[in-house]
Amino acid sequence: ASQLLFKNPNEPPLVFSWFPVVGSTITYGMDPPRFFRENRAKYGDIFTFILLGKKTTVYVGCQGNDFILNGKAKDVCAEDIYTVLTTPVFGKDVVYDCPNSKLMEQKKFMKIALTTQAFQSYVPIIADEVSSYFKKSADFKGKSGIVNIPPKMAQITIFTASHSLQGKEIRHKFDETLADLYHDLDMGFNPVNFMLHWAPLPWNNRRDHAQRTIAKIYMDTIKERRAAGKSDAQDMMWHLMGSTYKNGTPVPDHEIAHMMIALLMAGQHSSSSTSSWIMLWLAARPDIMEDLYREQVENLGADLPPLQYEDLAKLPLNQAIIKETLRLHAPIHSIMRAVKQPMPVPGTKYVIPPSHVLLSAGGVTATDPTFFPDPDTWEPHRWDKDSPIAPRMVVKNEDEEEKIDYGYGLVSKGAASPYLPFGAGRHRCIGEQFANVQLQTITAMVVREFKFRNVDGSNKVIGTDYASLFSRPLEPANIHWEKRNA
Ligand code: HEM
Repeated sequence: ASQLLFKNPNEPPLVFSWFPVVGSTITYGMDPPRFFRENRAKYGDIFTFILLGKKTTVYVGCQGNDFILNGKAKDVCAEDIYTVLTTPVFGKDVVYDCPNSKLMEQKKFMKIALTTQAFQSYVPIIADEVSSYFKKSADFKGKSGIVNIPPKMAQITIFTASHSLQGKEIRHKFDETLADLYHDLDMGFNPVNFMLHWAPLPWNNRRDHAQRTIAKIYMDTIKERRAAGKSDAQDMMWHLMGSTYKNGTPVPDHEIAHMMIALLMAGQHSSSSTSSWIMLWLAARPDIMEDLYREQVENLGADLPPLQYEDLAKLPLNQAIIKETLRLHAPIHSIMRAVKQPMPVPGTKYVIPPSHVLLSAGGVTATDPTFFPDPDTWEPHRWDKDSPIAPRMVVKNEDEEEKIDYGYGLVSKGAASPYLPFGAGRHRCIGEQFANVQLQTITAMVVREFKFRNVDGSNKVIGTDYASLFSRPLEPANIHWEKRNA
């Protein structure tokens, strides 16, 4: 406790709180972006607060993003923080349940599988899943109606991701048992599990049962595929079945299964929340939804032929929708790292001691007027070339990805960017391109099918739910839909 009370001049300012152990846990947890903004105004870019008894040092701004996300493996560590939560959910020997060098190899396998050829095969799969979803769903019967959109987008996300990345056998199992099993598994991602991950609570028992059952489904599918000898699918599972670690060991089946779980879980929350925000903004801005429809008619042809991967590049506004939505609603608002040895902060008197956790909040720079004029307005046209509110800084994203070698030690140069919804450095997202392809395809297909508006006709969207690990819209988040060719 004395450590919490006496101030070391080389440590950043401590956010005041009346409660010694709880500290600022509640004010942070209720609205993290507001907590960051208010304390940045009071203390500057670096400050410390107490999160569940732990000194947690936030460093925002471009230099802060770089300091934390581009940190060296000897200084900062993600697995110390995340493994209690992720290992029971994903399973053993993958992601944070192995040395970082092994994760780097696993990420490289997954990244290599995401070729242009793979994306070319994914777009028609995703487009078909979206149209058949709307054809079959009871909530979209008739000419118009009102629907709470996030649960629908969650289903569309998991159907499209499982079909494209894991193949049609796995996709079919979502119509049977997999949907419920993944739902149980998901309960392991409850933030209280940072403390109670080990407890024999009912939801943890269901989590463990679901993990074992899902892993077995994947391992059985792998065996069937091996027995059949060949697959024409471009999916990730098939690629991993042919991958070998640098030490010569082929990736074992249980690791492939666990990587499949990790991949689906990592993509599910972030993409599903993002697609819900997109739909909510389209309902708030029907004018933009019409711009998007016109863009497709003008650039792809009035008959709107079946969507192909190459078409996505011809739809800049459709692309900007994703960028702008992630700017305001990055689903991962806080990225944490354990500090392994004292870390001097360049240009300051501060040294961050190993007892601290570092917290990076890229959303702060993404909503900073220095870089994004009129920052709180959702305006996809800001990404147009000659927009008066265009971002005031070269924003690196997809291209920069190419510069990263997922070998040991090499990290991103772009970590000092104000716009990092996919993170940076050794833990940077490998799913960025997939998420873009998936979200652009879903958006384009929805725009073909529907006109949305808010139920009350306003231009506002609902607030954010920060209670789970990934932020998402509060529910119910109802929108009014109308079929375009009704
Ligand atoms: C890592 C965001 C979709 C797989 C990350 C990180 C962020 C992020 C911020 C860095 C986490 C950290 O530094 O601790 C997003 C967003 C997505 C998305 C905003 C969608 C809109 C996906 C998808 C996949 C995926 C679709 C899989 C196909 C991964 C993996 C990592 C990662 C494997 C690496 C974790 C690590 O190295 O520690 N993502 N992601 N993500 N993401 Fe994504």
